[in-house]
Amino acid sequence: MTANRFTLDDRLPADYFTDTLRADVLQGLVAPPRTLPPKWFYDKRGSDLFEQITRLPEYYPTRAEHEILTRRAPEIAALTRASTLVELGSGSSRKTRLLLDALTAGGSLVRYAPLDVSASALEEAGEAIVRDYPGLDVTATVADFESDLALSDEPGPRLLAFLGSTIGNFDSAQRRAFYRTLSLALSSDDVLLLGADLVKDPDVLVRAYDDSQGVTAEFNKNVLAVLNRELGADFDPDTFDHVAVWNAEEERIEMRLRSRAAQTVKIRDLDLTAEFAPDEEMRTEISCKFRRESLTAELHDGGFTVRQWWTDPEERFALLLAVPN
Ligand code: SAH
Ligand code: AVI
Repeated sequence: MTANRFTLDDRLPADYFTDTLRADVLQGLVAPPRTLPPKWFYDKRGSDLFEQITRLPEYYPTRAEHEILTRRAPEIAALTRASTLVELGSGSSRKTRLLLDALTAGGSLVRYAPLDVSASALEEAGEAIVRDYPGLDVTATVADFESDLALSDEPGPRLLAFLGSTIGNFDSAQRRAFYRTLSLALSSDDVLLLGADLVKDPDVLVRAYDDSQGVTAEFNKNVLAVLNRELGADFDPDTFDHVAVWNAEEERIEMRLRSRAAQTVKIRDLDLTAEFAPDEEMRTEISCKFRRESLTAELHDGGFTVRQWWTDPEERFALLLAVPN
């Protein structure tokens, strides 16, 4: 039997939590309207909370994408004949197993290369996958996909999966930059597999981001615990409310944390004091929702041609295959 291997390459710069987090917090919190980038949710607790979210009755995207993958994975394997499956923001890799099953059954796959900012998620998922897929190499990378795509020496053709509608956590300028970088990094026989949540009834959307058990609220407030731990801040999460609103103009859900009262928060390592007015909000995540025509057009502008577009039967979520132009 071929011995299979699991490697974990930590490519986050040594100063990631000091310099990058500090710069993001300085830029986002120094003056209203305050914002924080969503990547800071995902420490061990945040990754675990996200997994709980994917199992909530209100959070349909994971189930809808799972339905599409169940139906289409054999077709994806046949169309791509991928030797390497690269996955950005792989998290628990739970849905990815449908692709791994189809690609190993098709006989083309030699390597799975997940990349995530969360080392704990990569370790857990990677160790389980090498156990369950004998003969498969798993080369995991801890990196920030906004600044380091790390797509150097994998055997091709490569299938690059970006699932879960994590693309929706970028605004349009970030998406433009991301498509450009990605299309330049891919070769002509590589293929992008992108999951995208679709515009729908705002009530359904708001419920998906404000669940009745309060798990999404915990996930949202977890970013305050990250700032307390990493930067010596003194946020009291109990003094903030979780808010999820539909921004109809931008067609996106916005998660915010709303200060219940006037308060002063100190961020020790930045020598920064942030004054919050009563009801003042800090935006912690955008989750853009997509339409077929505009998503196809923005991918085209970014260097990709959409070849396949699949949805679940209720048309809640889309999975598309695109190739570099
Ligand atoms: N793909 C999985 C997980 C989605 S959650 C799914 O569909 O269920 C988003 C994932 O992206 C998390 O695992 C998070 O750690 C990762 N992530 C978020 N921002 C990131 C960044 N800038 N660089 C790398 N990974 C990131
Ligand atoms: C990872 N990302 C696509 C999720 C989303 O739906 O925007 C994160 C999330 N935020 C709240 N619930 C889930």
